[in-house]
Amino acid sequence: MIVLGIETSCDETAAAIVTDAREIRADVVLSQLDDHTPYGGVVPEIAARAHLEHLDGLIRRAMAESGLGFADIDAVAATGGPGLIGGVIVGVMTAKAIAAARGLPFVAVNHLEGHALTARLTDDVPFPYLLLLVSGGHCQLLVVEGVGQYRRLGTTIDDAVGEAFDKTAKLLGLGYPGGPLLEKAAALATNPGRFDLPRPMVGRPGCDFSFSGLKTAVRRHVEELGTPLSAEDQADLAAAFQTTVAEVMADRCARAMRQFKEMHPQGGALVVAGGVAANKTLRARLQKLADREGMPFVAPPLRLCTDNAAMIAWAGIERLRLGQTDPLDFAPRPRWPLDPSAKPAIGKAGVGSGVKA
Ligand code: KG4
Ligand code: ZN
Repeated sequence: MIVLGIETSCDETAAAIVTDAREIRADVVLSQLDDHTPYGGVVPEIAARAHLEHLDGLIRRAMAESGLGFADIDAVAATGGPGLIGGVIVGVMTAKAIAAARGLPFVAVNHLEGHALTARLTDDVPFPYLLLLVSGGHCQLLVVEGVGQYRRLGTTIDDAVGEAFDKTAKLLGLGYPGGPLLEKAAALATNPGRFDLPRPMVGRPGCDFSFSGLKTAVRRHVEELGTPLSAEDQADLAAAFQTTVAEVMADRCARAMRQFKEMHPQGGALVVAGGVAANKTLRARLQKLADREGMPFVAPPLRLCTDNAAMIAWAGIERLRLGQTDPLDFAPRPRWPLDPSAKPAIGKAGVGSGVKA
């Protein structure tokens, strides 16, 4: 089975061709970074227009790279949500048009499921596994029991962790996109132990996260030091923030591991996914924890952690194998939780509060 995948839910336009033998035949990503940088963040309307302008060309490039034609494709999968709705509409409409024109099945993929199943594309990880999903809009611990079968153990009560990286990078004067720039700055720290930041939620029961207090603590240091910060201050504060986030993650994951082992005594891997999973300090900290707990640890290669279409094509393949396809009147979804039965986290604001699903 050969599937064309399309991803347009945020600020990356992407197309990929993947086979059910776990082969990535093509994987092209166009970042809209330059379009959004002047605004210090993603502007939804600019993103939607950029997807519209570039998606056709990217699909053509993916086809050329793979050496395949539309006649070789068995299905089309596109991100159907959650995400910035204008971009999702562009991807879904394009996928539907190809499916209708070629008489192919269409699959609307949950973007989060794309991240969640990536470890099965890269490492053939069996169900069940414990997933730490860390991206720009999400920070969750989930038990993945099968395709479409997720049980949420914890989530953030305020910011997503990628959002915390992005906001902190802005506070430090590092710019956008925050995550990678903050990691780069931290690598230059001469005194990484200079700042002692609070570790929100550490030691508390449950598996929820919170990052707003950490951000406020960084802000206080920045105000004390005075802006613009020196490169040395930027680096030391970035290192402190990054280490603290890794420690918080490890504490929350350790608790989730205990719950996971109770639910599934036969065991399973700890898997990390989403853009923040590209962070090397976090990966190293989680590896250490998994070694201590005797759990295998799987982290996809860096380029498959951040948004891409290979993960969408793969999630499409997983759904097609189960005979699941979507009708051509599928409506794009701005919100689409993986575990709809999970209760909102305590302290979490409701719909329309700016907190993403
Ligand atoms: O999964 P993703 O590419 O897009 C979403 O679905 O949100 O995640 C993007 C997020 C951004 O907040 C970005 O700053 C963060 O992932 N990120 C990182 C790193 N690379 C990307 N955070 C920390 N360290 C990184 N190396
Ligand atoms: Zn993502």
